[in-house]
Amino acid sequence: MIPKETFTWIPLTVQDSEEELLHIVSAREEYLYTKEGKEYIDGISSWWTCIYGHRHPKIMQAIRKQTEVLDHVMLAGFIHDPAESLSKLILEIADSHFTKVFYSDNGSNAVEIALKLAIQYYKNSSSLSDPPSQQKSDRSKFIVFSASYHGDSIGAMNVSGVTYFNRIFKDLRFPVREFSCPDCTNCSFRKNPENCNTECLDPIKEELKQNGESYAGLVIEPLIFGASGMIFYHPKVLRELREITETFGVMFILDEVFTGMGRTGEFFAFQKAGIVPDLVAFAKGLTGGALPLAATLVSGKIYENFLTKDPYLSFFHAHTMTGNAIACSAGLASVEFLSSVVLPRVKSLEGQMQAYMDDLADRFPERVQNPRVMGAVAAFELNETIGEDEYLNPIGKALRKKLMEEGVLLRPLGNTVYVTPPYTISETSLEKIFLALESAISSL
Ligand SMILES: Cc1ncc(COP(=O)(O)O)c(C=O)c1O
Repeated sequence: MIPKETFTWIPLTVQDSEEELLHIVSAREEYLYTKEGKEYIDGISSWWTCIYGHRHPKIMQAIRKQTEVLDHVMLAGFIHDPAESLSKLILEIADSHFTKVFYSDNGSNAVEIALKLAIQYYKNSSSLSDPPSQQKSDRSKFIVFSASYHGDSIGAMNVSGVTYFNRIFKDLRFPVREFSCPDCTNCSFRKNPENCNTECLDPIKEELKQNGESYAGLVIEPLIFGASGMIFYHPKVLRELREITETFGVMFILDEVFTGMGRTGEFFAFQKAGIVPDLVAFAKGLTGGALPLAATLVSGKIYENFLTKDPYLSFFHAHTMTGNAIACSAGLASVEFLSSVVLPRVKSLEGQMQAYMDDLADRFPERVQNPRVMGAVAAFELNETIGEDEYLNPIGKALRKKLMEEGVLLRPLGNTVYVTPPYTISETSLEKIFLALESAISSL
């Protein structure tokens, strides 16, 4: 079936195309099943959400149980146990460095909430100073990175690098300054983690030295720039960014929508770097892919500037489904399961994927470039371009088609091929993904 024949607008798809649409009727563990009864291994956890595979009994049971007592109540003027228990647990897991959890329902919103909180933090600071400053802070600019992706709503798009995803809307941008993203696989200074002095961050330091007073924050995906090509960078860079933002008094905002919930091997990627940011947005795997739920972690320092009786200093932001009780129950089951049982599995998955990637790179030294693994993310560039670069490079689509024939669902980003399996994937399925990659690469 082609998209024209559906009633639903199929996103991220060229509308007038012959692209095949699979009609999925059911799912279980790492498998998706079509109407025709064909089975596919979901090698990307359905856009990185189904971190325990599909319909995990722990999550399904939590949802079922919650539907027996409370479905939803707006969070303005109300609170409920699922939201409170989940917030408490997340704050504990984040080592009590944060004070509040602000819920929303997708990653873009979680990022926008962080941006708005950062801007308002400074505006409130002016009013709360003693005596109140007549001049409101005009810190509203953000430092952003060329290969970052923070979502498709206008604010989230605005702090993303200008790429194929958003370039049509670039004139809508509010003030940001974009810097080249750190890329430790292809360091432009030809350094390695041992001799690196984070030279790539010097232009940011220079900008903040000159114009620091106009910035509200720096927004970055920690350790991996996901959707723009699974670009890895060293924790050292993140530590240096923490220092720079601290020195110049701008908010350090981490987008853990992809990296959070264990994807890099720790619950949050910032824990891998041993740093504490000011704001953290996360979503994706929060409910194990069962329901939409996102969260923004807020530090005590920021929250203090909202702890006032003055209504004009309040944060007027909410989404209708904020803190939905069923989604929070799914989130609670998911966070408990990850922190108590599954997280060590990500570390062993990392070892297994490293071995498969090494084999693949040995087998195809010319074609498999920049093989890299971090936590439950394995990626490489397929050294074969047909015409266009980046996301629209048709090689990705060609590879995807071949993999589908082998019963494996991957979704390359242009010529960047990546595997982000559910953490609970069986060894047999993981092997099948890499065997399918081998056979697809050979046949191209
Ligand atoms: C790092 C990152 N931030 C934000 C988003 C946007 O999340 P959502 O699609 O839930 O709005 C994504 C989505 O892929 C992402 O990878």
